[in-house]
Amino acid sequence: MITIFRIRRFNPEAAPSMPYFQEYKLDTDRADTVLDALIDIRETLDESLTLRCSCRGAICGSCSMRINGHAALACKTKVQAMASERGVVQVEPMNNMPVIKDLVTDMAGFWEKVRQVQPWLQPAGQEPEGEYLASSESMNHLTGVMGCIMCGACVSDCAALEVDERFVGPAALAKAYRFVADPRDGAARSRLLALNEPGGMWDCTRCMECIEVCPKGVGAMERIMSLRSRGIEAGVPSTSGSRHAEVFADLIYRKGRLDEPMLATRTFGLQNLSRLLSLLPMVLRAFVRGKVPKSGPLHRAIPGVEKFRRLFQRMEERP
Ligand code: SF4
Ligand code: SF4
Ligand code: FES
Repeated sequence: MITIFRIRRFNPEAAPSMPYFQEYKLDTDRADTVLDALIDIRETLDESLTLRCSCRGAICGSCSMRINGHAALACKTKVQAMASERGVVQVEPMNNMPVIKDLVTDMAGFWEKVRQVQPWLQPAGQEPEGEYLASSESMNHLTGVMGCIMCGACVSDCAALEVDERFVGPAALAKAYRFVADPRDGAARSRLLALNEPGGMWDCTRCMECIEVCPKGVGAMERIMSLRSRGIEAGVPSTSGSRHAEVFADLIYRKGRLDEPMLATRTFGLQNLSRLLSLLPMVLRAFVRGKVPKSGPLHRAIPGVEKFRRLFQRMEERP
């Protein structure tokens, strides 16, 4: 099968050093992965093509790149599944991190954010004579998150990071959850307090991309939501992020629908005029685009709102 690989190239030493796409035609086999093809291109067509890989078995996490617009492990992605009708596969370096050359990104910032969440056990109390013991039941729910191979795919495609590079990001937050939820760890509260700060667990926009692209099913966004719940349960100080979540749920309970004016005023507080005024351009854009409910800005409860309330009650009754 002849496949065209449209690869984003970048050489910092070239003048001018601007990224550009280069196409390569390659005869590929049904079983070939994108990594097989890239290595083939480098060995037979263009030895200057630069990429990073090691295990070739979806274990080391080093071959993450964007394939047809989404981050993936090149060694786990079949060419055949990716080739469009015209037989084209587009390959780019990961997003949200600087490119060193071609498909190789600088992951220093990624590791810095992982270090920021202190990814090591911090037990409290007297050190036991032997090991720190935990029952299998109390650790089972952590096996998924411990499967993270630190490939960076979730970080590459994170919508929140794209607009705010201070956000600690899905991989580091999943790692934080791994320790917050570890029954042997004694620092859960201080970890949650740190994650409650700007750039922490409340900055996720729940775009779900980290769930979509993770090659190991870590479910970073779900871990972030669990961190938020644990933060609220642990009584970490209220932030606009936690208030937003609580007011959101309360409005759905009371009205069966979102009430945006109420959501904003209750989240930020009526006294926070500067923050509320900063929302005005967005409100005007919503008006111009017709995104205002037919009933007007005053949102009444929908008919049948009791069904929502019963759903809430059932969720609260769940063990
Ligand atoms: S769900 Fe949150 S953490 Fe995951 S990619 Fe989207 S914004 Fe980032
Ligand atoms: S959570 Fe998944 S996508 Fe993110 S670094 Fe870990 S393995 Fe990779
Ligand atoms: S080369 Fe190791 S995960 Fe792809």
